[in-house]
Amino acid sequence: MTAAAPDVAMAKPLLAALAGERRRASPVWLMRQAGRYLPEYRAIRASAASFLDFCYTPTLAMEATLQPIRRFGFDAAILFSDILVIPDALGQRVSFEEGEGPRLKPIETAADLAGLAEAPDWSRLAPVFETAERVRAALTSDVALIGFCGAPWTVASYMIAGRGTPDQAPARLFAYRQPELFARLIDILVEASAAYLERQLRAGAEAVQIFDSWAGVLPPAEFERWSLAPIARIVAKLRAALPDAPIIAFPRGAATELGKFAAIDGLSGIGLDTAVEPRAAAAALPARLALQGNLDPLALLAGGRALDDGIDRTLAGFAGRAHIFNLGHGILPETPIAHVERLVARLRKTG
Ligand code: CP3
Repeated sequence: MTAAAPDVAMAKPLLAALAGERRRASPVWLMRQAGRYLPEYRAIRASAASFLDFCYTPTLAMEATLQPIRRFGFDAAILFSDILVIPDALGQRVSFEEGEGPRLKPIETAADLAGLAEAPDWSRLAPVFETAERVRAALTSDVALIGFCGAPWTVASYMIAGRGTPDQAPARLFAYRQPELFARLIDILVEASAAYLERQLRAGAEAVQIFDSWAGVLPPAEFERWSLAPIARIVAKLRAALPDAPIIAFPRGAATELGKFAAIDGLSGIGLDTAVEPRAAAAALPARLALQGNLDPLALLAGGRALDDGIDRTLAGFAGRAHIFNLGHGILPETPIAHVERLVARLRKTG
């Protein structure tokens, strides 16, 4: 930490938690907090020709970033973009079909891989950095801006399958059958992701999160090679460039391998998924890490007792640790807004 960092952390509860500070009230933000459960998001989303056009239009992306902050007063904004802008900027064009999720031309052969650029076309991503700059200028002094990228394994799994799948079998098969080729793709993504996060931080992001949403489908040996090691390389690169930048990793489904993840040198926080028991994680994971999570998104959707009990158990389980309240995965589009309001009110009351 530089001399100036503690002051910044004091003012922003999220940064305080990532610096290891425990407070009475856990700061809160929610994964996928901008998006379709908000009527004001659906209204502006309709004005863009495509989802990526939306992401690449700073006025719209800035508005989408700020909507959940205005409505709920979260402690952090997350830059509105998507993990798949990296393949898009590497030349594998991405589209989002209404109600069906992402579509890419699958990478199947060495020739497909050779068709990718060595590095992202930064001019294509320039609007993302412009959005970060504008959002940062618009935020009040207590709200932090989080940048993000997908982990190489998760991004590669979409690049290989060309779409979402239940278990990422296409990428797992590709990695078994053509490990050298797969390693080449992962290397490209490590370089691109580290540079992308660095640029987001220089543009105004104050912390970054690496989403490894599909870490949990890999057996331990593959997990180490394709999920853990590439993320450790990104963290090391970012640390070398920006020694103070807080970095959160979210290895969804890491399960028994969570401890290895938590041992990555240079991480500031770790995002825990719904299956992790808070008290056990609080006891087992290194004290230098802020713990983030991990209310079941379905408990938030359900509301009532399930929500209140879930919140209370989460807070009790992480008591004694620097904690950032979040869900165990992204908020679901069907989530009632009143439940999110209730969540924030209960957190602030308990604090
Ligand atoms: O609010 C925020 O969290 C910031 C923006 C954000 C989006 N996607 C916007 C989005 C973030 C952080 C993401 C991350 C993301 N994108 C992940 C990792 C987190 C996770 O949920 O596991 C993944 C795997 C993706 C890839 C992706 N993007 C998929 C599979 C889909 C389609 C299904 C879905 O979840 O909506 C998207 C589209 C997407 N990304 C939307 C939004 C708001 C919906 C598109 C629309 O509005 O038409």
